[in-house]
Amino acid sequence: MAMRERMQKPISQTNPRSPITESYRTIRTNIQFASVVDETSVILVTSTAPGEGKTSTASNLAVVSAAAGKKVLLIDADMRKPQVHQRFQVSNLFGLSTVLIRERAIESCIVQTETENLFLLTSGPIPPNPAEMLSSKAMAELIESLRKVYDFIVLDTPPTLSVSDTLNLTRVVDGVLFVVDSQRTNRNLVRRAIQSLQQVDARVLGVVLNRAKRKKNESYYYYYSSDTSVSV
Ligand SMILES: Nc1ncnc2c1ncn2[C@@H]1O[C@H](COP(=O)(O)OP(=O)(O)O)[C@@H](O)[C@H]1O
Ligand SMILES: [Mg+2]
Repeated sequence: MAMRERMQKPISQTNPRSPITESYRTIRTNIQFASVVDETSVILVTSTAPGEGKTSTASNLAVVSAAAGKKVLLIDADMRKPQVHQRFQVSNLFGLSTVLIRERAIESCIVQTETENLFLLTSGPIPPNPAEMLSSKAMAELIESLRKVYDFIVLDTPPTLSVSDTLNLTRVVDGVLFVVDSQRTNRNLVRRAIQSLQQVDARVLGVVLNRAKRKKNESYYYYYSSDTSVSV
């Protein structure tokens, strides 16, 4: 049997006092500031390419929000390369895909985590038609019904530029958090991705600068810009 890949649990869960966890709290605070006028309760997290920190950002943001007393649901809407179940080390036998094809009721697919108030809806088995599923009426209805139950819902999504999934999903969320890997992400690609998000009238709440170098002894931190007119 192949060795199972061991994923580290979100740092906000394992180390609530770390400076990195603190920067996720800052991101959360900034989202709250960005949404004082109209309530922002459903957001999606995306980036231009794989491996830039979408799942890490979505997971940690969900953890710190739940730790602050909100009832939070993290949904793995990345049906191309789902990672939330690995990160939290839970089963992915059922999840979003099984709910959308009406194989299982939503209640039996949502799992509790070791963080109080934090619930997960993993991706479920990868379907052949993620784009279709995520842009379906069933998906829109699901999010509307979940809004009534949770204070804050975070969707982890695939890269914006490679597939249409994320652009389609912007219709059911209140805002978008865009992750940039400061050491890898290509500026032109970020510009293109933000433009395509704006073309579908998505509200870009801010950019999370991941893997940014800070001090010698603190090599990574997360920066958040609440500026909605993001310039890159
Ligand atoms: N700031 C960071 N510092 C160190 N490792 C990171 C950081 N952000 C992400 N990673 C790691 O990089 C890998 C890719 O991140 P992930 O959040 O899964 O990206 P994505 O969801 O965009 O594909 C993971 O192994 C994750 O633990
Ligand atoms: Mg991911």
